[in-house]
Amino acid sequence: MKIFLDTADIDEIRIAARWGVIDGVTTNPSLYAKVGGASYESILQEICKITPGPVSAEVVAADVEGMLTEGRHFARLAANIVVKVPMCEEGLEAITRLADEGIKTNCTLIFSTNQGLLAAKAGASFISPFIGRLDDINEDGMTVIRELAELLALHEMDAEIITASIRHPLHVTQAALAGAHIATMPFKVLQQMIHHPLTDKGIVQFRADWDKARAELAAKKGE
Ligand code: E4P
Repeated sequence: MKIFLDTADIDEIRIAARWGVIDGVTTNPSLYAKVGGASYESILQEICKITPGPVSAEVVAADVEGMLTEGRHFARLAANIVVKVPMCEEGLEAITRLADEGIKTNCTLIFSTNQGLLAAKAGASFISPFIGRLDDINEDGMTVIRELAELLALHEMDAEIITASIRHPLHVTQAALAGAHIATMPFKVLQQMIHHPLTDKGIVQFRADWDKARAELAAKKGE
């Protein structure tokens, strides 16, 4: 399963890229608002320079023509831009038309298996079920991932599932086992995946034992 970072924070993306574990980035208007300080376009271009993988840029227009204008504009920014379009009637039409133009899309704000099916039929390259927001309202977000993975495989449809709205590392494991192609996560969740208390304790212990052995050797030589 591929790992995307769900952020517009350049520093976080740079760090994760150095670790060699990220395959792409997803952004949205709220994530952009969190960092601000520069135009959305310049941030997207910077991200595209750091990662060669897909970078999602989200449209905010509510009408089809507006979505197309924004989508084409984003697609011109870099070769690896993917246009993020919300699941709605206008969004489906925009996805269909952008796909006809050879522009890749990521259908966002998916909360049901049927929404995912429609997005895939419209020609979205990626479909993004929001599992955390479903869990928040006492529904099982992972069920949508499991059903969509089965459905896409059964009907040999090309869209890739991006498990989105990830809240904790367990979501990542569950998404991978449920058959998601991608998990997009906040930087903090990626860090949480790296750490384990026994690993961290082990590193400290090995270093302490090493230092002790070296000190004893130095003392012996100095006798
Ligand atoms: C996905 O592409 C979205 O940007 C994101 O995962 C939404 O997550 P949230 O529910 O934490 O806002």
